[in-house]
Amino acid sequence: MRIRKKPWAQPELDACAFYAKEPAANAGKWGSCFKKNQPLHVELGCGKGCFVARCALANPDINYLAIDIKSDMLGVGRRTIVKLFDENNRSVDNIILAAYNVEQIDKVLKADDKVERIYINFCNPWPRAKHKKRRLTFPKKLEMYKEFLVDGGEIRFKTDDKELFEESLTYFKQCGFKLSFISYDLHAEPSDKLPVDFVNYETEHERMFTEMGKPTFCCFAEK
Ligand SMILES: C[S@@+](CC[C@H](N)C(=O)[O-])C[C@H]1O[C@@H](n2cnc3c(N)ncnc32)[C@H](O)[C@@H]1O
Repeated sequence: MRIRKKPWAQPELDACAFYAKEPAANAGKWGSCFKKNQPLHVELGCGKGCFVARCALANPDINYLAIDIKSDMLGVGRRTIVKLFDENNRSVDNIILAAYNVEQIDKVLKADDKVERIYINFCNPWPRAKHKKRRLTFPKKLEMYKEFLVDGGEIRFKTDDKELFEESLTYFKQCGFKLSFISYDLHAEPSDKLPVDFVNYETEHERMFTEMGKPTFCCFAEK
């Protein structure tokens, strides 16, 4: 996703109490970086932060680490999070934002971090054969995620791209994940077909594609 340069983004992040300036320095000890030591969920490619803001507001008993390669995105995300938490009279104590390339996520998250869930929402589809290895669901990355995801932990994946979705289902199976939920049109699922306690928080891309009439493909892959 392209984003216009935002000269204010990095200075605001640098002054932000919930921005990790050197994420790799926290590898293996993310639990101690949050106010409360509680389960850790990670969003990869968090974009403008709409999803993590709403998840974290609704789930104060879970810590969220939201990662994106672009500081400009995270800068927008920071503003989104602060606004939503302010409106709800809550201080932001269960989100940390980090700028990092997921290609090297193994430098930032270790087995000791005991990640219980990973969210990958509307990642770039990289349709050309020679670029598929850049996908955030590509097997080499899934193997990296397995290193810090606890047994029984889940990857929750959403996309608008059918080819990426179907190939990702294959990647998950290839890497030994169990697919516990698969939907080819998440928003059209009757509530009794959705996993118990599941609440869908829309992302920026999801909203955009839904307005265009495109379905959201979704799966949960359990380690
Ligand atoms: C298409 S956008 C989706 C944003 C958001 N998840 C949503 O659903 O609206 C993909 C996001 O992934 C980020 N991204 C792409 N490749 C990445 C990488 N290798 N490491 C970290 N973030 C990445 C981009 O900067 C962008 O914000």
